[in-house]
Amino acid sequence: MVNKSIGIIDSGIGGLSIWREIVKELPKESTIYLADSKNCPYGSKSSEEIYQLSKKLVTFLAQKKVKLIVLACNTITVSCLSKLRIEFPKIPIIGTVPVIKTASEITKNNKIGVLSTVRTAKSKYQKKLIQTFAGGARVLNIGTDKLVPIIENEETNMIKINKILNEELKPFLDFKIDTLALGCSHFPFLKKKMQKILGKKILILDSSAAIARQIERVLKNNKTLSVYNSRSYVLLTTGDLEKFKKLSKKLLGKKFKNVAIKSISL
Ligand code: DGL
Repeated sequence: MVNKSIGIIDSGIGGLSIWREIVKELPKESTIYLADSKNCPYGSKSSEEIYQLSKKLVTFLAQKKVKLIVLACNTITVSCLSKLRIEFPKIPIIGTVPVIKTASEITKNNKIGVLSTVRTAKSKYQKKLIQTFAGGARVLNIGTDKLVPIIENEETNMIKINKILNEELKPFLDFKIDTLALGCSHFPFLKKKMQKILGKKILILDSSAAIARQIERVLKNNKTLSVYNSRSYVLLTTGDLEKFKKLSKKLLGKKFKNVAIKSISL
């Protein structure tokens, strides 16, 4: 029997925040991570553009015969999860699980912040979920397209980074949230810096653990959980290979060895 991989897509490198959780929680699974670095960021594109780009990524992974696809990108999820599920009915597709549900269970003062890309913030999808989950909680959803380039372009100017973060996070402090849900898979890589600005009392949550649990549930249901101890990790980028190699090593640290990193054109 062949050990089929889990496919993971994102507009860029940010989805590695979800990939590392999948690798940690499901250590027997092989993964193919596909980053559309060439077209990143997606947050400022139209829904139709995002759909056309995502379709290419999913088609590529479908040809690789992956057993499940994770959209490790909130922007793709809110723009076209249902369309992709219709287009590729044979592959289970999991979107980012909004952390709003967890946030609404954890909040003590009933004030939740959600930070995402502009496209995600504008989507009706997110709003509907907020209403379903957050019940009586008050939610401040802010969309920004300034943070993804900090990660993707490996911004090192700390004054610039802190200035942007201070500006983007200030409304949450003014609103007096006690819980911040990260609605973009790039943002966990800025979590430490955000925590410094927000202070220790504000809890910052991201979706990665919930996504890993959901993958496990779906694979169990479909009886496709891997039973093998041998696994492979492949990271693919549509952008500059050397840049991607350097950045992924920096973001993941030395922890993840034996990862093959290649560039592809779609
Ligand atoms: N990482 C993606 C997300 O979770 C989007 C980044 C982008 O704008 O390309 O929303």
